[in-house]
Amino acid sequence: MSTATPKTTVRKEKLLHPLPLRIMHWVNALAIFIMIGSGWRIYNDDVIFGWLHFPDALVIGKWAQYGLQWHFFGMWILVINGLCYLTYGIVTGRFRHKLLPISPRDVIATVRDALHFRLSHDDLTVYNAVQKTLYLGVILVGILIVITGLCLWKPIQFSELAGLFGSFQIIRLIHFLCMSAIVGFVLVHVSLALLVPQSLLAMLTGGPTVGDVLAVEAAAPVPESPTETTP
Ligand code: HEM
Repeated sequence: MSTATPKTTVRKEKLLHPLPLRIMHWVNALAIFIMIGSGWRIYNDDVIFGWLHFPDALVIGKWAQYGLQWHFFGMWILVINGLCYLTYGIVTGRFRHKLLPISPRDVIATVRDALHFRLSHDDLTVYNAVQKTLYLGVILVGILIVITGLCLWKPIQFSELAGLFGSFQIIRLIHFLCMSAIVGFVLVHVSLALLVPQSLLAMLTGGPTVGDVLAVEAAAPVPESPTETTP
C-alpha cells in the first residue's frame, strides 16, 4: 500500500526582536561605547595623525593605563556577546531571513529613494537594502576590528595572523579605520532610530509579532487511493 503523508505547516508567532536579540543588541551598544571611549584615550597617548587628538571630555580613563584597562574590560563583553549574536543569527536563521539577500540594484534604488526623501519605514518587519548592507557591513567591520585588536594586543602569539596585514603600524591603521567606520555607522544608525521612534520602541519592547514558519510536520500516513493497493 502506498501512503501519502500530508504536511502540516507549523507557524509560531514570535516578536520581531526576540528578547535574546534585544539583550545582545543593548549589551553590544554598551560595549561599543566603552571600547570607543577607552580606545580614544589610548590613541591620544600615541597618535597616528598629528592633527587628531580626542577631547578629554569624550574619552574614558584618566590616563592611558586606565584607558587600557577599560578597553580590555569592554573587549571581553564585546567578544563574548558578539560570538553569542553571531551564533544566534546563524542558528535561528535570522541573518538569512532578515539580512539576506542583498542585490546591488535594490541598494541603488533604496539610496535613490532616500535621497528623494521617499524612503518609508512603515513596515518595521522588513529591512530595506541599505539597512541590510549597513547591518551586514558593521558585523563584518566588527569582526575585523576584533581580529586586528588581537594582533595589536598579542603580536607574538598571533604573529601569523598579524603577518597577513604587514607591519604593526598597518594593523593600527586598519584598527583605527574600523573604529571610524563604526562611529560613522552609529551616528547614522542612532539618527535613524530617533527619526523613526517606533523602530527604537520595537528594539526596547520586542515590537510586533511576526509569523515564523517553524517546521513542516508529517501527519499520520493515509492511503493515497484504493487503486494503488498491492494485490
Ligand atoms: C544607543 C545606540 C543604539 C541605538 C539607539 C540603536 C537602535 C537600534 C534599533 C532601533 C534597531 C532596529 C532597527 C530597525 O528596526 O529598523 C537596531 C538594530 C541593529 N543595531 Fe542598533 N542601536 C544602537 C547601537 C548599535 C551599535 C553600537 C551597533 C553596532 C556597532 C548596532 C547594530 C545594530 C544591528 C546589527 C542591528 C540589526 C539587528 C538584527 O536585526 O539582527 N546598534 N538598533
